[in-house]
Amino acid sequence: MKSVISYPNRGNWGDTAYRGNCSGFVIKDLLEFYKPHSFLEVFAGGGTGYEVARELGYSESVHLDLHPQWGGWNALKDDVPINSDFIFCHPPYFDMVIYSGEVWGTPHDDDLSRAKDYQDFITKLNFVHEKLFNSLQINGRLATLIGDCRKQGIYYSIIKDMKFFGTLESHIIKVQHNMSSTRKKYQGKFIPIIHEHLLVFRK
Ligand SMILES: C[S@@+](CC[C@H](N)C(=O)[O-])C[C@H]1O[C@@H](n2cnc3c(N)ncnc32)[C@H](O)[C@@H]1O
Repeated sequence: MKSVISYPNRGNWGDTAYRGNCSGFVIKDLLEFYKPHSFLEVFAGGGTGYEVARELGYSESVHLDLHPQWGGWNALKDDVPINSDFIFCHPPYFDMVIYSGEVWGTPHDDDLSRAKDYQDFITKLNFVHEKLFNSLQINGRLATLIGDCRKQGIYYSIIKDMKFFGTLESHIIKVQHNMSSTRKKYQGKFIPIIHEHLLVFRK
Protein backbone atom coordinates (compact mmCIF):
# COMPACT_ATOMS: atom_id res chain seq x y z
CA MET A 1 0.00 0.00 0.00
CA LYS A 2 1.09 3.57 -0.64
CA SER A 3 -0.38 6.91 0.46
CA VAL A 4 -2.46 7.20 -2.73
CA ILE A 5 -4.72 4.31 -3.69
CA SER A 6 -6.87 3.96 -6.77
CA TYR A 7 -8.99 1.01 -7.82
CA PRO A 8 -10.79 1.73 -11.10
CA ASN A 9 -12.47 -1.67 -10.75
CA ARG A 10 -13.94 -2.05 -7.23
CA GLY A 11 -13.96 -5.87 -7.42
CA ASN A 12 -16.96 -8.14 -6.94
CA TRP A 13 -17.07 -8.37 -3.13
CA GLY A 14 -20.39 -7.51 -1.53
CA ASP A 15 -23.47 -5.93 -3.06
CA THR A 16 -22.08 -3.74 -5.84
CA ALA A 17 -25.44 -1.92 -6.04
CA TYR A 18 -25.41 -0.88 -2.34
CA ARG A 19 -25.22 2.91 -2.41
CA GLY A 20 -21.97 4.32 -1.05
CA ASN A 21 -20.26 0.93 -1.01
CA CYS A 22 -16.47 0.88 -1.11
CA SER A 23 -14.02 -1.15 -3.10
CA GLY A 24 -13.10 -4.43 -1.45
CA PHE A 25 -9.51 -3.77 -2.47
CA VAL A 26 -9.28 -1.11 0.27
CA ILE A 27 -10.11 -3.67 2.95
CA LYS A 28 -8.08 -6.44 1.30
CA ASP A 29 -4.98 -4.25 1.08
CA LEU A 30 -5.35 -3.11 4.70
CA LEU A 31 -5.75 -6.67 5.99
CA GLU A 32 -2.84 -7.95 3.91
CA PHE A 33 -0.63 -5.06 5.03
CA TYR A 34 -1.39 -5.07 8.77
CA LYS A 35 -2.20 -8.79 9.10
CA PRO A 36 -4.35 -8.34 12.24
CA HIS A 37 -5.30 -11.35 14.39
CA SER A 38 -8.92 -10.29 14.71
CA PHE A 39 -11.05 -8.10 12.47
CA LEU A 40 -14.10 -6.00 13.24
CA GLU A 41 -15.95 -4.01 10.59
CA VAL A 42 -18.56 -1.44 11.53
CA PHE A 43 -20.92 0.12 8.96
CA ALA A 44 -20.79 -3.15 7.01
CA GLY A 45 -23.48 -2.01 4.53
CA GLY A 46 -23.49 -4.13 1.41
CA GLY A 47 -21.18 -6.80 2.82
CA THR A 48 -17.96 -5.85 1.03
CA GLY A 49 -15.81 -6.33 4.13
CA TYR A 50 -17.54 -9.56 5.09
CA GLU A 51 -16.77 -11.18 1.73
CA VAL A 52 -13.17 -9.92 1.69
CA ALA A 53 -12.59 -11.17 5.23
CA ARG A 54 -13.96 -14.64 4.50
CA GLU A 55 -11.88 -14.88 1.33
CA LEU A 56 -8.74 -14.01 3.32
CA GLY A 57 -9.52 -16.65 5.95
CA TYR A 58 -10.88 -14.42 8.73
CA SER A 59 -13.55 -16.96 9.62
CA GLU A 60 -14.47 -15.22 12.89
CA SER A 61 -14.46 -11.61 11.77
CA VAL A 62 -17.41 -9.54 13.01
CA HIS A 63 -19.44 -7.21 10.75
CA LEU A 64 -22.01 -4.78 12.13
CA ASP A 65 -24.50 -2.27 10.75
CA LEU A 66 -27.82 -0.69 11.68
CA HIS A 67 -29.18 -2.45 8.57
CA PRO A 68 -31.30 -5.39 9.82
CA GLN A 69 -29.29 -7.72 7.58
CA TRP A 70 -26.37 -7.25 10.02
CA GLY A 71 -28.44 -7.55 13.18
CA GLY A 72 -29.44 -3.91 13.41
CA TRP A 73 -26.37 -3.05 15.51
CA ASN A 74 -26.66 0.58 16.55
CA ALA A 75 -23.29 2.35 16.78
CA LEU A 76 -24.80 5.04 19.03
CA LYS A 77 -26.43 2.70 21.54
CA ASP A 78 -24.94 -0.80 21.40
CA ASP A 79 -21.70 -2.09 22.88
CA VAL A 80 -18.78 -3.05 20.69
CA PRO A 81 -18.95 -6.86 20.99
CA ILE A 82 -15.25 -7.74 20.63
CA ASN A 83 -11.86 -6.26 21.51
CA SER A 84 -10.13 -6.61 18.17
CA ASP A 85 -6.74 -5.43 16.99
CA PHE A 86 -8.12 -3.99 13.76
CA ILE A 87 -11.33 -2.12 13.00
CA PHE A 88 -12.44 -0.92 9.58
CA CYS A 89 -15.02 1.83 9.79
CA HIS A 90 -16.85 3.28 6.78
CA PRO A 91 -19.53 5.65 8.07
CA PRO A 92 -22.01 7.65 6.02
CA TYR A 93 -20.54 10.86 4.60
CA PHE A 94 -23.05 13.06 6.44
CA ASP A 95 -26.24 12.94 4.32
CA MET A 96 -24.69 12.28 0.90
CA VAL A 97 -26.57 8.98 0.85
CA ILE A 98 -29.52 8.51 3.21
CA TYR A 99 -29.57 4.89 4.38
CA SER A 100 -32.55 3.98 6.56
CA GLY A 101 -35.81 4.48 4.69
CA GLU A 102 -34.06 4.79 1.33
CA VAL A 103 -31.38 2.12 0.91
CA TRP A 104 -33.07 -0.23 3.42
CA GLY A 105 -36.03 -0.43 5.83
CA THR A 106 -37.74 2.55 7.37
CA PRO A 107 -36.22 5.81 8.71
CA HIS A 108 -34.24 5.27 11.92
CA ASP A 109 -33.51 8.14 14.35
CA ASP A 110 -29.97 6.93 15.03
CA ASP A 111 -28.99 6.53 11.40
CA LEU A 112 -25.93 8.79 11.07
CA SER A 113 -27.02 9.80 7.59
CA ARG A 114 -30.18 11.23 9.17
CA ALA A 115 -28.37 13.45 11.67
CA LYS A 116 -30.35 16.65 12.10
CA ASP A 117 -27.54 18.84 10.77
CA TYR A 118 -23.79 18.71 10.06
CA GLN A 119 -22.76 19.49 13.66
CA ASP A 120 -25.03 16.75 14.95
CA PHE A 121 -23.42 14.36 12.45
CA ILE A 122 -19.89 15.31 13.66
CA THR A 123 -20.91 14.90 17.33
CA LYS A 124 -22.29 11.44 16.60
CA LEU A 125 -19.28 10.43 14.51
CA ASN A 126 -16.93 11.51 17.34
CA PHE A 127 -18.95 9.47 19.82
CA VAL A 128 -18.72 6.36 17.62
CA HIS A 129 -15.00 6.80 16.94
CA GLU A 130 -14.23 7.19 20.65
CA LYS A 131 -16.21 4.06 21.46
CA LEU A 132 -14.45 2.06 18.73
CA PHE A 133 -11.03 3.35 19.75
CA ASN A 134 -11.65 2.43 23.40
CA SER A 135 -12.61 -1.11 22.36
CA LEU A 136 -9.31 -1.72 20.54
CA GLN A 137 -6.57 -3.86 21.99
CA ILE A 138 -3.40 -1.95 22.93
CA ASN A 139 -1.43 -1.27 19.71
CA GLY A 140 -4.56 -2.01 17.69
CA ARG A 141 -5.63 0.09 14.74
CA LEU A 142 -8.77 1.89 13.66
CA ALA A 143 -8.97 2.58 9.91
CA THR A 144 -11.71 5.00 8.87
CA LEU A 145 -12.67 5.69 5.29
CA ILE A 146 -14.44 9.04 4.97
CA GLY A 147 -15.11 11.56 2.22
CA ASP A 148 -15.59 15.30 2.05
CA CYS A 149 -18.85 16.66 0.76
CA ARG A 150 -20.32 19.78 -0.75
CA LYS A 151 -23.89 20.89 -0.11
CA GLN A 152 -25.52 23.98 -1.56
CA GLY A 153 -22.08 25.34 -2.42
CA ILE A 154 -20.62 24.79 1.08
CA TYR A 155 -17.61 22.51 1.39
CA TYR A 156 -17.68 20.20 4.43
CA SER A 157 -14.34 18.68 5.40
CA ILE A 158 -15.31 15.91 7.78
CA ILE A 159 -11.70 14.99 8.61
CA LYS A 160 -11.02 18.62 9.60
CA ASP A 161 -14.03 18.77 11.87
CA MET A 162 -13.95 15.36 13.53
CA LYS A 163 -11.86 14.42 16.58
CA PHE A 164 -8.82 12.19 16.23
CA PHE A 165 -8.17 9.43 18.76
CA GLY A 166 -4.77 7.86 19.29
CA THR A 167 -1.85 8.38 16.93
CA LEU A 168 -2.49 9.10 13.29
CA GLU A 169 -0.28 6.50 11.63
CA SER A 170 -1.28 7.00 7.98
CA HIS A 171 -3.34 9.39 5.90
CA ILE A 172 -4.10 7.77 2.57
CA ILE A 173 -5.88 9.47 -0.31
CA LYS A 174 -8.25 7.19 -2.17
CA VAL A 175 -9.18 8.21 -5.70
CA GLN A 176 -12.91 7.88 -6.39
CA HIS A 177 -14.19 6.54 -9.67
CA ASN A 178 -17.56 6.93 -11.43
CA MET A 179 -18.70 9.84 -9.28
CA SER A 180 -21.98 11.53 -10.17
CA SER A 181 -20.55 15.00 -9.28
CA THR A 182 -18.02 14.70 -12.10
CA ARG A 183 -20.81 14.32 -14.65
CA LYS A 184 -21.75 17.08 -17.00
CA LYS A 185 -24.42 19.04 -15.11
CA TYR A 186 -21.92 20.41 -12.53
CA GLN A 187 -19.07 21.13 -14.90
CA GLY A 188 -17.54 24.59 -14.42
CA LYS A 189 -19.50 25.42 -11.24
CA PHE A 190 -17.00 23.92 -8.78
CA ILE A 191 -14.06 21.59 -8.67
CA PRO A 192 -15.53 18.11 -8.25
CA ILE A 193 -14.41 16.01 -5.30
CA ILE A 194 -12.89 12.79 -6.59
CA HIS A 195 -11.08 11.55 -3.50
CA GLU A 196 -11.75 10.13 -0.07
CA HIS A 197 -9.54 9.90 3.03
CA LEU A 198 -8.42 6.70 4.67
CA LEU A 199 -7.08 7.48 8.16
CA VAL A 200 -5.31 4.83 10.20
CA PHE A 201 -5.10 5.50 13.95
CA ARG A 202 -2.99 3.45 16.34
CA LYS A 203 -3.83 2.90 20.00
C1 LIG B 1 -20.96 4.14 3.60
S1 LIG B 1 -22.08 2.88 4.10
C2 LIG B 1 -21.01 1.49 4.31
C3 LIG B 1 -20.79 0.76 2.98
C4 LIG B 1 -19.95 -0.50 3.08
N1 LIG B 1 -18.56 -0.21 3.40
C5 LIG B 1 -20.02 -1.25 1.75
O1 LIG B 1 -18.99 -1.41 1.06
O2 LIG B 1 -21.12 -1.68 1.37
C6 LIG B 1 -22.51 3.41 5.73
C7 LIG B 1 -23.37 2.47 6.54
O3 LIG B 1 -23.61 3.05 7.84
C8 LIG B 1 -24.78 2.44 8.36
N2 LIG B 1 -25.22 3.20 9.55
C9 LIG B 1 -25.73 4.44 9.64
N3 LIG B 1 -25.99 4.77 10.91
C10 LIG B 1 -25.61 3.72 11.67
C11 LIG B 1 -25.63 3.45 13.09
N4 LIG B 1 -26.12 4.32 13.98
N5 LIG B 1 -25.15 2.25 13.52
C12 LIG B 1 -24.67 1.34 12.64
N6 LIG B 1 -24.65 1.52 11.30
C13 LIG B 1 -25.11 2.71 10.81
C14 LIG B 1 -25.73 2.46 7.15
O4 LIG B 1 -26.76 1.50 7.28
C15 LIG B 1 -24.77 2.15 5.98
O5 LIG B 1 -24.83 0.79 5.63
